Amino acid sequence: MSTPRASTSSLRFAQFKLVLLGESAVGKSSLVNRFAKDQFDDFRESTIGAAFLTQTISLDANTTIKFEIWDTAGQERYKSLAPMYYRNANCAVVVYDITQSASLTRAKAWVKELQRQANENIIIALAGNKLDLAENREVPTEEAAAYAKEAGLLFFETSAKSGENVTELFTAIAQKLPLESAANSRPGRTNAKGIDLKAGGGDNNSQCQC
Ligand code: GTP
Ligand code: MG
Repeated sequence: MSTPRASTSSLRFAQFKLVLLGESAVGKSSLVNRFAKDQFDDFRESTIGAAFLTQTISLDANTTIKFEIWDTAGQERYKSLAPMYYRNANCAVVVYDITQSASLTRAKAWVKELQRQANENIIIALAGNKLDLAENREVPTEEAAAYAKEAGLLFFETSAKSGENVTELFTAIAQKLPLESAANSRPGRTNAKGIDLKAGGGDNNSQCQC
């Protein structure tokens, strides 16, 4: 196991497990697809089980963060699988669709479940997706923002379609993740994971239905 030596003069690499949760069709897979591949499909198949992708971002010239992303299936019949994916997650994005107020109710239920049952240090972001459809909005920004503040969540309104706020969402999460006082570099641990690397980490995008 590597001993971390995070310092400002050296390269730092950390990896974190991220899970996406939310009602079916709110755009979880689309957000990940935009973030990891900068792509968007108007007609996307509903996820079966979960999909796994990775994406690496640079926080600054010295710091690289790799997200190991579990994109869960929102359909009710897969609900019981969710704990398998959020268990040991360092961070979560709970997604709702700004044009469907019922999807915010569902998102709140996921937040409650995460706060009760996931890692106690988990960083949770609430994403109100489909911002490009603001003319059909059912959830006012202020309502969701007030809820997010009260529940201690990061909050962004995003559009996987236009790309608005997608990088910002993942970057804000990365900035809240603990990089110093690292104990080891394995994802899924409650402790921070910053380690020094002499070489930078590269992207490793892969996807599987599992
Ligand atoms: P499940 O896999 O069933 O849980 O759904 P999901 O949350 O992964 O939704 P998905 O990404 O498959 O998107 C559902 C539909 O919404 C697709 O037709 C997408 O093209 C569309 N969609 C996703 N994000 C956006 C967005 O930001 N704007 C618009 N206009 N459509 C979107
Ligand atoms: Mg999906």
